[in-house]
Amino acid sequence: MSSGIVDLRSDTVTRPTPGMREAMARAEVGDDVLGEDPSVNALQERVAAMVGKNAALFVPSGTMANLLAAVSQTRPGDTLVLDESAHPFNFESGGLGMVAGVMTKTLRGMYGVLSPELVEQALVLHTDHHYSSTTLVSIENTTNRGGGAVYPVETVAAIGRVAHTHALRLHCDGARIFNACAAAGTHVRDYARHCDTLSFCFSKGLGAPVGSILTGDAETIDRAHRYRKMLGGGMRQAGILAAAALYALDHHLERLREDHERAKRFREALEGIPGITFPFPSPTNIVFLDVPDAPRCVAELKECGILAGPAGPNRIRVVFHLDIDDDGLERAIAGFRGTAARF
Ligand SMILES: Cc1ncc(COP(=O)(O)O)c(C=O)c1O
Repeated sequence: MSSGIVDLRSDTVTRPTPGMREAMARAEVGDDVLGEDPSVNALQERVAAMVGKNAALFVPSGTMANLLAAVSQTRPGDTLVLDESAHPFNFESGGLGMVAGVMTKTLRGMYGVLSPELVEQALVLHTDHHYSSTTLVSIENTTNRGGGAVYPVETVAAIGRVAHTHALRLHCDGARIFNACAAAGTHVRDYARHCDTLSFCFSKGLGAPVGSILTGDAETIDRAHRYRKMLGGGMRQAGILAAAALYALDHHLERLREDHERAKRFREALEGIPGITFPFPSPTNIVFLDVPDAPRCVAELKECGILAGPAGPNRIRVVFHLDIDDDGLERAIAGFRGTAARF
């Protein structure tokens, strides 16, 4: 932690560690728009193999990964099915409508986790020209606004079966897929094998400064590559960023469990305190709290150097990550206790 601030607003606020910065400084680079950056190529090959797909594309953000998944697997006017709390529907500036030109059908899953039955009921499959056909289903694992909920592998498999039975595609927004793996004791391939495309972020729990990756079959990733270029996401000597991502895969995967453990300790320490309730389970690194006046609570916490994310008039989100150690955890607990005492 620098400057004594405990920043729990998101796991995107991490700063590269000295080791990561060193790896970035040493990175071999080339022009990735020409396909000549050895570090980017190494990252894409490594991730494709890890996920069990035959291609991967390094992109600047999770937003772009989701957008490329949509635009590469739908036609304008098609319908995409996703949970109502899903990131691309709520927090990606309407790119699905503006860029992919798709309609969205939102469903209410449990903590953001869809069931195969809900998905099946929502599909529009007939060829009557009055209708927009569903061509893509998108799931989020772990869920952001659902409190870091984890999809059971069997649910992903069943949703995959529903999608594939009807010749639809399934995308997994796995921004925090390794948090799901750490919590469930699964491998990323356990989820990916049921999905046509799966993306994840290096710039969240993995602690890299920039970057996400979209994986899938070679043909889909080739289409995504074209759209990445179109959207201005072709980066030149991006190997500096790929080196950070490679470093993160080598050094920051195992430690995600520590974030989950701290999230659990944080919650346990505050459970039962008058004025604080927990709207969702918190199985991974994200904890939502309901309080009588969230903006006031967030402002008071800020005065003690604790930054938390307002998520509604009564809701606060805190996220544990690489830059929050045990000292940060204790300060966060004390800060919330002190604020709660004034409710
Ligand atoms: C579940 C999920 N998907 C996608 C994104 C988008 O990632 P980015 O901020 O890199 O665009 C986020 C960001 O918080 C997220 O939580």
